[in-house]
Amino acid sequence: MTVSNENSDEPLGDDGERLLESSAIGDPWAIDKIEAGLIDVPLEFIFADHHRQRQAALMLNMIAAGGFEERGVRNLIRFLKEDFARHIADEELGFFPLLRERCLPEDKIDPLIARLVDEHKDDESCGDAVIALLEKRLAGHEISNSARGQISAFAEHILQHLAVENAVLLPIARVRMDAASLKALSTMLKERRTARK
Ligand SMILES: [Fe+2]
Ligand SMILES: [Fe+2]
Repeated sequence: MTVSNENSDEPLGDDGERLLESSAIGDPWAIDKIEAGLIDVPLEFIFADHHRQRQAALMLNMIAAGGFEERGVRNLIRFLKEDFARHIADEELGFFPLLRERCLPEDKIDPLIARLVDEHKDDESCGDAVIALLEKRLAGHEISNSARGQISAFAEHILQHLAVENAVLLPIARVRMDAASLKALSTMLKERRTARK
């Protein structure tokens, strides 16, 4: 899928999703990079970003359970501040509007997208609080049991959100989005990454 180098040629499942989770075999405190060429296959790119979010959620759960690795926590904070926020923009400003244009009434896409956007708002508000807790932990402070609960609840929120997007949203997109809408999405993904340099 995404990975720096270890699972970039893992097999695809029936629905086009890659089968192996690199976090199961790699460093549990690392978040993979996305293969450069995957941006030309934008739905696979979004799926690969979900894989990275799953890795981040697993790290949050390790921290909630008392684990700590300085480099990993620093990377996690950067991921949440930059990559995770950018993914939400990718979806709300690119993927969701393009998908909505291509869907049919029977897809009932509007309530699904409305739910996902609401969940993004929760991600943003909970995420800021969790980042503050991670920075506190990084500064050498212990974190309370209630803070640990807050961190694991955020991880669970991330996991359930990406599960819905992988299991419901991406399969609809694979059927409905045509070559032109996929190209437009790919262009938007590239522009958002060029603009920040
Ligand atoms: Fe999302
Ligand atoms: Fe997503």
